[in-house]
Amino acid sequence: MAEETQKKIILSGIQPTGVFTLGNYLGAVKGWKDLQDEYLCYYFIADLHSMTIHIDPQKRRAQTRQAFALLLACGIDPDKSLVFVQSHNKAHAEMGWIMDCCSQFGELSRMTQFKDKSQKHPDNINAGLFTYPALMAGDILLYQADYVPVGADQTQHLEFTRDVATRFNHTYGEIFKLPEGYYPKAGARVMSLQDPTSKMSKSDPNPKATISILDDPKVIMNKFKSAVTDSEAEVAFREGKDGINNLMTIYSAVTKKTMDEITAEFAGKGYGDFKKAVGEAVCEELRPVRENFDRLMNDRAYLDEQMKKGAERATYIANKTLTKAKKRVGLLLES
Ligand code: TYM
Repeated sequence: MAEETQKKIILSGIQPTGVFTLGNYLGAVKGWKDLQDEYLCYYFIADLHSMTIHIDPQKRRAQTRQAFALLLACGIDPDKSLVFVQSHNKAHAEMGWIMDCCSQFGELSRMTQFKDKSQKHPDNINAGLFTYPALMAGDILLYQADYVPVGADQTQHLEFTRDVATRFNHTYGEIFKLPEGYYPKAGARVMSLQDPTSKMSKSDPNPKATISILDDPKVIMNKFKSAVTDSEAEVAFREGKDGINNLMTIYSAVTKKTMDEITAEFAGKGYGDFKKAVGEAVCEELRPVRENFDRLMNDRAYLDEQMKKGAERATYIANKTLTKAKKRVGLLLES
């Protein structure tokens, strides 16, 4: 896992605000696992980002540990990839401030995630929620990432990162690599099972709308059974069939079948059969994740050791870029 290899660098993060959804899994984490041999991969739990929403501190701590275990349970191998908790590496907060000072009020105001989240939490539109994309830009640029595997909802933040990096490079001299998004072929946008026009989200108040990757198989089957579809009874990927399109996307992401293959498989069958097949495929996919997770959560010493190892290595790598950035902006480095 030497940093000097010629491999391209992959970096991504996930917030620890509850158990990952099937959207997080198919849109991001499942793909992260497959990238580990070809690329140098850095994955982290974005606990600083999660502070933009208020949750009980005790709960945040527990969720951070749980999210770290979930990443490993999903197949992220700490012997192949760097896995760490964001706040364990102070460089993120420092680089976040440098990025804040390179970000413009106007561009931050245009971020759709800021608009959505401030509508959902009108009582807590904090400054962190507003400058969130600058912290995210810092996360990415610290590690000179080539690619950032994310779901489609993060595209705007990635474009912002490129804009800020370009501005910094132009003002202070070239130090940042411009990262590119890396999106899965199927699953980049998994929608709610109850309102397939909005994305599947951990914060959805309707539990039937979201599959959590630790849900019991029976619960998963029931949620798919009650998924909203349409009255046509045809498994085909077409405009206007949002519910079926979503189920086909999920099925395709799990089984790797194309939309045409799926349509052929369910020709002449009803939605009931299709929903059952999607549910079964998802249960089978998530079974090992649940088993690995239970095992890992019972081994606190192992988790702590991996977190410590990850923090040390992340700090070492990130500090190289941070020091360069501090010099360029004219901060007096301590001798
Ligand atoms: P977060 O925690 O909201 O989501 C983690 C990943 O899951 C993807 N995702 C989805 N993909 C498909 N369908 C969905 N319904 C769905 N919901 C979530 C997200 O696109 C994401 O890839 N800002 C980031 C965390 C972050 C980060 C970073 C990511 C902080 N710094 C640097 C990349 C690089 C976030 O809130 O993701």
